[in-house]
Formats: sequence, structure tokens, C-alpha cells
Amino acid sequence: MSIETNQEDLVELLAFYAELGVDCAVSEEAIDWLQHGHAAPGDPIRQVLNSSPNRRGQLSVPSPTPAREKTGQRRAGGVDAMAALRSQRHASASGGVGRSPSDPGLLAAGRLAARAKNLEELLSALQSFEGCALRATAKNTCFYRGAKTARLMIIGEAPGRDEDLAGLPFVGRAGHLLNRMLAAIGLNEEMVHITNVVYWRPPGNRTPTLQETSSCRPFLERQIALVEPEVVLLLGGAAAKNVLEVSDGIMRLRGKWKQVSLGGRTLRALPTLHPAYLLRTPAAKRLAWRDLLSLQRTLRGPS
Ligand code: URA
Repeated sequence: MSIETNQEDLVELLAFYAELGVDCAVSEEAIDWLQHGHAAPGDPIRQVLNSSPNRRGQLSVPSPTPAREKTGQRRAGGVDAMAALRSQRHASASGGVGRSPSDPGLLAAGRLAARAKNLEELLSALQSFEGCALRATAKNTCFYRGAKTARLMIIGEAPGRDEDLAGLPFVGRAGHLLNRMLAAIGLNEEMVHITNVVYWRPPGNRTPTLQETSSCRPFLERQIALVEPEVVLLLGGAAAKNVLEVSDGIMRLRGKWKQVSLGGRTLRALPTLHPAYLLRTPAAKRLAWRDLLSLQRTLRGPS
């Protein structure tokens, strides 16, 4: 491989990293950016890309937002694959191929859910429902854990492996952290109702598609009507986008109260970071803590 080809490959690789949101190279030794005038972390990568004859003028280096929240244009190799993955995941949570309200499967789900007079009947209805493809690969239906009625309902994304085995939401590592987060503001399982936007584990823990969340939605709405919460805490981007029907990323949504109509009720909804994300990104816990304090203030306020 010639040096020139090598250089091209390196530029391609840098472009790939930039697409992923990488904007600076971190070395073992700290860099004193104050000595670099107006230069900022990330400049070196942009400089290399913009000075490359192959790339000059054709590459816009994206800002460092999470890669999965941006839409991509066609590019070579791995970047293409990432763009496809991103738009697929974006469509999963907030747009793309959903189900029309006249979809017979959705109507059947609505009729089944509406007939349930209590949570036991709603669980039976869910267990007889065949309109969500996730059911075929899951071991168990994960309905809810916690109180049957509660002022606070907590809605996550989807059951994971531990939840699928136990048939209960949030019982794995993320669930343990969730319990500790609740305890930090004086709450426990008996005081809240915990569920997800889908009731079955997606294969490989992928984000549920819009089709999957739409087929579960009539059940979620009926569940809300039966639990009678006043406040919902939305854990993570997928839950927040789905419940609020918006396309913004969780970093934009988190910590901001929204009013939402669900299950015939008008509720206050607070999106926050998912505990699984907090396990991977401990530095983000301070943001989640702010949201928890805001939640505590609201729950302590007049009901
Ligand atoms: N993550 C979720 O969103 N829900 C669960 O039940 C477990 C992990």
C-alpha cells in the first residue's frame, strides 16, 4: 500500500470518526488548550479533513451530537452503514413506518385493551394479543412492577434479557440503579408503577420499532387509565420520543416538563436519562439528579 493510499485511508477513517461524533483525539497526556489561542478540541480533525484535496469543500464535519440522532448522507464504506443504522434507529423511535389508525391490528389491540376492567384483565388481554411481532421471540410478557395505582408512573424503553427471564420490567442492572434513584428521593417500588413502551424484549436488545411501539400503545394507554397516575417519568430517548410523539433527542428533552394526554388523562411528563445510559456514563448522573429533584418537587407540590 503506497503512502498516498495510506493517507487517503487515514482521511477516510478520520471522516468516519467525525461522522460518529468524535471531535478530538484524547491522549494519555493532558493538552493545555489555553496555549492554542482560539483553537479548540476538535480543530485538528477538522483541519486535516478540510486540507485534504479529496475532501476539501465536500465534507461538512458534524457537530459532536450523538451519532444516532443525526441523519446521514450517502458516504463511502463504514460511514454509509452508520448512516443507515442511524436513520433506522431514528425512525424506530420517532417517525418512519408506523401503523395507521385504521390498521386492523391496531383496532383489534384497541378493542382488546378497552375491554380490560383492571390490570389482571389487561395482562390476560396482552397475553392473548398476537399483533406485536416481539412476542414471538420473547420468553415472557413484562407487564409492570410496583403499585397497581400510583401518582407516579415510570415508563422505560423495552425489557432486556433479565426482564425477559423474570417477566418483570427493570429487574436487571438498570433496574437496580432505578431503585437507588427512586430511594434517593424517598420513593420505593410500592409507591410507583413501572413499565415500558413495549411489553416484550426486542431481539438482541435493539430499540423497538415504531410498528412495535404502536401495537403496544393501546395497552399502554389503557394501563395509564387504570393506574391513574398524575406524573410520568420517561426513561431515555425511546420512551420520551414515543410517549411525547416528538423527534428531539433525550439531551434536549430531559429535565423539561411536558403536558401530555394519555389514556384519557392529562398528565405531567418528565423525560430523563435512562439508568442503562447512566451505568455507561456515570458523569451524566448529575443531570439525572437534577431531574430527580425536579420530580420530587412536583410530587411534593399540591396534587
Ligand atoms: N431497560 C428498559 O428500558 N426497560 C427495562 O425493563 C429494562 C431495561
